[in-house]
Amino acid sequence: MVLQTHKELSSQIESLKNESLRIGFVPTMGALHAGHISLMQEAMKSNDVLVVSIFVNPTQFDNASDLSKYPRTVDNDIDLIYKHFDKSKVIIYTPHVEDIYGNSTVAKSYKYDGLEQVMEGANRPGHFDGVGTILEFLFQKVQPDHAYFGEKDFQQLQIVKKLVEKLHLPIQIIGCPIKREMNGLAMSSRNERLSPKARKEAIFIIQSLEKAKEHFKNHSINDTVEMVQKLYTENKNLELEYFTIASEETLVPVKRKYHKHTYRAFIVAHLEGVRLIDNMRLS
Ligand code: PAJ
Repeated sequence: MVLQTHKELSSQIESLKNESLRIGFVPTMGALHAGHISLMQEAMKSNDVLVVSIFVNPTQFDNASDLSKYPRTVDNDIDLIYKHFDKSKVIIYTPHVEDIYGNSTVAKSYKYDGLEQVMEGANRPGHFDGVGTILEFLFQKVQPDHAYFGEKDFQQLQIVKKLVEKLHLPIQIIGCPIKREMNGLAMSSRNERLSPKARKEAIFIIQSLEKAKEHFKNHSINDTVEMVQKLYTENKNLELEYFTIASEETLVPVKRKYHKHTYRAFIVAHLEGVRLIDNMRLS
C-alpha cells in the first residue's frame, strides 16, 4: 500500500506491531535504481514487512538548485518496487513536505562525536542536521527492527549508527555494499542528469579509486593522495572536490598508516555540474 501521511503510517505500524511482525526499513529520496532495490532485497531477507519511504528531504540540501534539480519519479518508483516485491508485504510512504515539517522547513541540530565535521559535513554545511532530522522523524514513525543504508554514502551510514546510539533507539542499522553499473560507475539518482558521454567519462572515478588502492599497498597515505590529485589535474573533464583517506571508524583523514585501522578512500568529483560521490575500502 502507498500512504501519504504519518498518521496513516502510524496506524499501519501499530497493527504490524500487534502481530509481532518484524519491520525492515529503507529510507530513500526516490528516483530508485538497482542500488536502492538491493537494500530492499536485503531487508526482505530478514523481516516480515518492508517499509520504503520516498521523500526528497529539503533540509539536507545546502544548495537550492541541487534540490530543485533532484529527480522526482514517484509513480515509476512505486511500479519498480511492486515489480520486485509482493505488494502485500510492502508499505510505501510518500509524504509531502508539510506532513513532516508542518509550516517550518527547518532542521534540528545534531552532534555525532565529530563524524559530521569532515568530508560531506565540512563541505555541505547543515547536511547531516537535515539527515538527522528526517531520520529521527522516520525512525519514530516506522519503528523498524532493522534499517538499511548503502555504503555508497559511507559517512552517512556511520552517522546513522551514531544517531541511533545517541537517541537510544532499538534499531539495528545494516550497511549494504555499493551497487555499480557494468562499467563500475556507482549507481546514483544523480547519474540520470549526465549525458551519455559523461556517463562514460565518469568511470574515471572508479578507476582512480582502484589505482589508489593499488598504490596504497606500497606507498604512504600522503603519497597516494598526491598521486590521485595529480590524476585529476591531468583530467580536464572531471573536477575533483576532495579525495581523502580516512579510518573507517573515525572518518578522520589520516597521515600515517596504523595496522590496526581499516582505511577507506573517499571521493567527490563534479562532471557536467553533477556532484558524484564514491568510496572504496583500501585495506
Ligand atoms: P538516497 O540518496 O535516495 O539513498 C537511499 C539509500 O540508498 C542510502 O542508504 C544510499 O546510501 C543507498 N544507495 C544509493 N545508491 C546506492 C548504490 N549505488 N549502492 C548501494 N546503496 C545505494 O541517502 C539518502 O537518499 C538520504 O540521505 C536519506 C537517507 C533517505 C535521508 O533523506
